[in-house]
Amino acid sequence: MAVLITGGCGYIGSHTCVEMVKAGFDVVVADNYHNAKSGVQQRIVALAGKEIPFYTCDIRKETDLIPIFEQHDIQAVVHFAGWKAVGESTVLPLAYYDNNISGTVTLCKVMQRFGCHRLVFSSSATVYGEENPAPLREQMPVGKVANPYARTKLFNEQILQDLCIANEKFSAVILRYFNPIGAHESGTIGEDPNGIPNNLMPYISQVAIGKLPYLQVFGDDYPTHDGTGIRDYIHVVDLANGHVAAVKYAMAHCGAQIINLGTGIGYSVLDVVTAFEKATNIKIPYQVVPRREGDVTIYLADPTKAKELLGWQAQYDLETMCRDTWRWQQNNPNGYEE
Ligand code: NAD
Ligand code: UD1
Repeated sequence: MAVLITGGCGYIGSHTCVEMVKAGFDVVVADNYHNAKSGVQQRIVALAGKEIPFYTCDIRKETDLIPIFEQHDIQAVVHFAGWKAVGESTVLPLAYYDNNISGTVTLCKVMQRFGCHRLVFSSSATVYGEENPAPLREQMPVGKVANPYARTKLFNEQILQDLCIANEKFSAVILRYFNPIGAHESGTIGEDPNGIPNNLMPYISQVAIGKLPYLQVFGDDYPTHDGTGIRDYIHVVDLANGHVAAVKYAMAHCGAQIINLGTGIGYSVLDVVTAFEKATNIKIPYQVVPRREGDVTIYLADPTKAKELLGWQAQYDLETMCRDTWRWQQNNPNGYEE
């Protein structure tokens, strides 16, 4: 009996592989390395302390997936494989719909064919849009989603809910992540963005290591305590453990559940800069520039449902997230380098 992890060589997937093995699961990984380097494999195995089968597999291709299901008794799938760059999705909408939606549909078809009906899916807080007030709760209506990436998450959520209605054996745990940051405490796996990072924490850590001259703070005129945007940052290892809990839940229940994975604590951009400086003793120069299009004032989770249903809650604080990010960045200034 094994759990298939699609996109298991990526940022969140690599950490989840390690935590799943530590929790006693056998893990099989499928990744097409579109946004991952094969060098991550040996680091995952070293941390997990156990061999893991890795398949080069594009989840859009049944012919790539079927041999995995033939080879292994896959009881559940944790589905990370997808593209996630908001800006790119506005330029390449069809490619995003193809990869993120066709990929999920093909995966589910193959799962059904092999009688596997437990899925944990990576959704995003972005589906709440900007209309809902903080803290965000799962029963709130989804908001106006602003870009094709966000729409792929929304459509996938609906596809999985439809599947659960049509097939009463199917179990889909749809996890809405808030802002994952940090890295494994070993400093051997972490986030390895291509080119100039879009997201706050990798940008700050590249400023700290001297690759980028200063941080641009996108707007200081939001209605928050210091004028900068507030987010619910969550340690990637906490997030990974949320998946372990979600797989256990999916094993025991049928139907679709949407669950936030966040801490319930919000920090502004300048709070994060200050916490990073404190954790690392490195000054982060910054300049305030105009707001980034599409950004909202605050994204903050109500994490109650995750605690009630999954028995899971985040453990790590912002300082630990900063320290672990910095250890990864220092040890791997050029990421996984290949
Ligand atoms: P990532 O890019 O690091 O990992 C995704 C992995 O999927 C990569 O290893 C990539 O090579 C692989 N992949 C992509 N398309 C594939 C395909 N067709 N077949 C096989 N493998 C494929 O991203 P991540 O940050 O680890 O995110 C994982 C998931 O979580 C994504 O679906 C993302 O949209 C979602 N998510 C991420 C965040 C975040 O802030 N990182 C927030 C919300 C949701
Ligand atoms: C972004 C995406 C979101 C996606 C998430 C995870 C956008 C608009 N949103 O969320 O869809 O699910 O990443 O991949 O891209 N900031 C700066 N300077 C920077 C970078 C960010 O000030 O160089 C600020 C932002 O304005 C925001 C906060 O930092 O207030 C966090 O930004 P980021 O890390 O990009 O995450 P989100 O925008 O929340």
